[in-house]
Amino acid sequence: MCYKDFSREAELRELLNEITIGETCLFRSQPQLDALRKVILPELATEKTKQITKRLRIWSAGCSTGEEAYTLAMNMLEESERLLKGWTVEILATDLNDRSVESAKAGIYGDYALRSTSEYFKRKYFAPVDEKKLQVRPEVKKLVTVSRLNLQDDSKMLFMKGMDLIFCCNVLIYFDAVSKSKVVNHFFTNLNFGGYFFLGTSESLMNLNDKFHLVHFPGSIGYWKPSLSSGKL
Ligand SMILES: C[S@@+](CC[C@H](N)C(=O)[O-])C[C@H]1O[C@@H](n2cnc3c(N)ncnc32)[C@H](O)[C@@H]1O
Repeated sequence: MCYKDFSREAELRELLNEITIGETCLFRSQPQLDALRKVILPELATEKTKQITKRLRIWSAGCSTGEEAYTLAMNMLEESERLLKGWTVEILATDLNDRSVESAKAGIYGDYALRSTSEYFKRKYFAPVDEKKLQVRPEVKKLVTVSRLNLQDDSKMLFMKGMDLIFCCNVLIYFDAVSKSKVVNHFFTNLNFGGYFFLGTSESLMNLNDKFHLVHFPGSIGYWKPSLSSGKL
């Protein structure tokens, strides 16, 4: 890469840092979390009893400042003595915006980000930084790896295989139809059989992908990649 290409790339990155919209909060969708803990985890746990390594891989794609990923991590920790006893949980959190990625790595949040977080979760999984801010505790951070990834970078998307759950909430609303369809196809390929894909509450895959099976949960919908044993492939 020559100096000119490098500066153009840096300029584009800075522009993307400015224009991306990172609105998010912890516990943004309780119905999705209920679906996860009440329906999906028991299902995946049964499915995985046949496997030697009990490993759950979750991807928060377009994680902004990390709230979604840490919400998932706390909920997985809540199941660590029950459904996920003896399991390894890995949560990958990725975003395009450099500043959001840095902030996600720090995991420090104020009242606005914490507005939907119960006292129970605040006390159990956060430590005070100062009078106004809380930071996620190390045991929560340990489950989450944060890195920069552009979902439109096809070469990188090919290396994101082996996911059990993918959350790409409130991200694809900014994509045109062709890019959206391409990214969703990558998600389908990157999910394990029997895995689930979630979008934000006002989004859907209508006219974008007919390989996923639409699943209705109370207050939310998810998209299922049929398992090999389901006979629905
Ligand atoms: C509205 S936030 C959603 C945050 C979180 N998923 C949620 O639902 O609360 C959208 C995020 O998508 C990220 N984003 C937009 N285009 C992206 C792309 N091409 N690759 C990766 N992230 C992208 C933005 O940087 C922003 O942080």
